[in-house]
Amino acid sequence: MSVVPNEGLVLAIESSCDETAAAVVEGGRTVRSSVVSSQVDLHARFGGVVPEIASRAHLELIVPVVAEALARAGLATPDSGRRPPGLEAVAATVGPGLVGSLLVGVSMAKSLALSWGVPFVGVNHLEGHLYASLLEEPNLPTPAVVLLVSGGHTLLVRLDEPGHYRLLGGTVDDAAGEAFDKVARYLGLGYPGGPAVEAAARAGDPRAIAFPRPMWDEGLDCSFSGLKTAVVTHVRAHPEVRTEDVAASFQEAVVEVLVHKAMKAAQATGARSLCLAGGVAANGPLRERAAAAASAAGLRSYLPSRAMCTDNAAMIAAAGYARLRRDGPSALDAGAVPSLAFPGAA
Ligand code: KG4
Ligand code: ZN
Repeated sequence: MSVVPNEGLVLAIESSCDETAAAVVEGGRTVRSSVVSSQVDLHARFGGVVPEIASRAHLELIVPVVAEALARAGLATPDSGRRPPGLEAVAATVGPGLVGSLLVGVSMAKSLALSWGVPFVGVNHLEGHLYASLLEEPNLPTPAVVLLVSGGHTLLVRLDEPGHYRLLGGTVDDAAGEAFDKVARYLGLGYPGGPAVEAAARAGDPRAIAFPRPMWDEGLDCSFSGLKTAVVTHVRAHPEVRTEDVAASFQEAVVEVLVHKAMKAAQATGARSLCLAGGVAANGPLRERAAAAASAAGLRSYLPSRAMCTDNAAMIAAAGYARLRRDGPSALDAGAVPSLAFPGAA
């Protein structure tokens, strides 16, 4: 029986917000394991992520989650003391995110790297989200425009090749995911807000209320804070309004603006494909409308699986693998950077 040796394995850890995740990816492409432990239940009764609770939960979960990722990849657990064969590096998200949460993953990754004698690689969480598309579609036609919509960020990025990006636009205030979360909270729909708004919207009429389409004609930046205020103002003025109609009309406004801006970016940059990334990219109507708009414009569209849109460590491993080849290992005394900017952005 021939044994294929493990090669180019990266163990990655993601703990920037409320998901404790670890994954093993081979050659920057093949996901050998991906374990995500969500803390949603712990934060739900507070209506949002409580940083102190998040970091404590990461501390409790990090060892079992890493051990599970190694075991599912067919590698020995960390307490065996042996470096898993073929393991090339240990990567971790170093920012942006909650500092107490980031530090748990970063410390764990550095300790493992040090004890196994392999490089540590610090990864930008936003760059990680970009790699979600590349992991599932390594032959992505470039240049591509990536609409990266997460809880903390709304970015339009031109991707020329892995590692070569240009930031085209962002949000001037709230991120799209943040708007979903705040509107959900206001409407009493629960947490996390995005899936709750999407579920309520299914029973509503997206044309019931004509919410504004902020910054429609203004370049590639977006704004969602005014839209959130428009929801509050409308509900106060019309207390009898159906929550489902508010959810559907709000979602319609966000989706229309995002798709409009993404297509504008694709046109301006001569893109060949359009990708979605980040938690909000799990939204059904956004996926359908982005795919339809791309197809109408003759572009390919790439919609990562929903599990790859939301936070996970496989995307961090893929980004870490590429970063190690491009920039080499990160210093072991490098810290977590809560407000880390998108690579190359001011
Ligand atoms: O990328 P992500 O998992 O974490 C961050 O890096 O922030 O994104 C989380 C965000 C949250 O705001 C959540 O409400 C939103 O993604 N989200 C959604 C959906 N699923 C998650 N927004 C709209 N529709 C969804 N189905
Ligand atoms: Zn994220």
